[in-house]
Amino acid sequence: MTSLTSNPQTSISQPHHAVVEVQNLVYAYSQQQPVLKDISFSLNAGDRVALMGATGSGKSTLLENLIGLKQPQTGKIFINGIPVQPKTLPQVRQQIGFAFQDANDQLFMPTILEDVTFGPRNYGVPPALAIDRARQLLADFGLEAYAHRSAHELSGGQRRLAALAAILALDPAILILDEPTNGLDPAWRRHLAQVLLKLPVQVILIASHDLHWLGRVTQRALVLSGGHIQIDSAIQPLLQEGKTLDQLGLPTDW
Ligand SMILES: Nc1ncnc2c1ncn2[C@@H]1O[C@H](COP(=O)(O)OP(=O)(O)O)[C@@H](O)[C@H]1O
Ligand SMILES: [Mg+2]
Repeated sequence: MTSLTSNPQTSISQPHHAVVEVQNLVYAYSQQQPVLKDISFSLNAGDRVALMGATGSGKSTLLENLIGLKQPQTGKIFINGIPVQPKTLPQVRQQIGFAFQDANDQLFMPTILEDVTFGPRNYGVPPALAIDRARQLLADFGLEAYAHRSAHELSGGQRRLAALAAILALDPAILILDEPTNGLDPAWRRHLAQVLLKLPVQVILIASHDLHWLGRVTQRALVLSGGHIQIDSAIQPLLQEGKTLDQLGLPTDW
């Protein structure tokens, strides 16, 4: 059962100190049983959190609720105290950098350099400054030679890194990544971990089933199964619990 029973049923007038707070969230796709049945948790400044769960357990659905792409049937979400609602989405999105499971959803300009400068330019950053920063970010991800290529000329892993560069160009306070290591070889998985460990953001939340990689970049794990957060604990001891993870659809030896 969920180990998070301490969430106060706070009224709207109380201050919220968590960076991300989810209260009793229920989400169902239309005409279907809920995928997320009663989700509550809070993430605090400095938290580096893994969202684990088998394929189909609802990780992407939960993340899309957090950024307001999907609206829960019941429950509340607060981002630095701001309730996530249609009218607050511009404020909410300004704080969150979100990398979709499918990087193709994120890259739409003729070149990846333009993809990475698009956000900052939208916020009024001068072109020369935006381009300098974009080139630096592309270099960080080994993509400087591809700056003038379009995303569909890159490999899946390179697209993922380019999408991440575009997100980091906006200096988000909160970084939410959906399956960031998909398509990356071990050297790039290591490099991505090193980049993430250095980021000065408030909170990082990463959905993945790449358990060992998660163990290197996060300290805390939420495990989603059966529509509930079944476990909320430190990640290292959890990774030793092979049997428990296996029962939650996350065998560690496969
Ligand atoms: N657009 C959709 N319409 C109906 N059901 C969906 C849709 N997207 C996802 N689902 C279902 O919701 C469940 C959770 O999916 P998802 O959040 O993508 O899981 P995960 O990211 O953990 O693999 C799955 O059973 C999936 O089939
Ligand atoms: Mg998913």
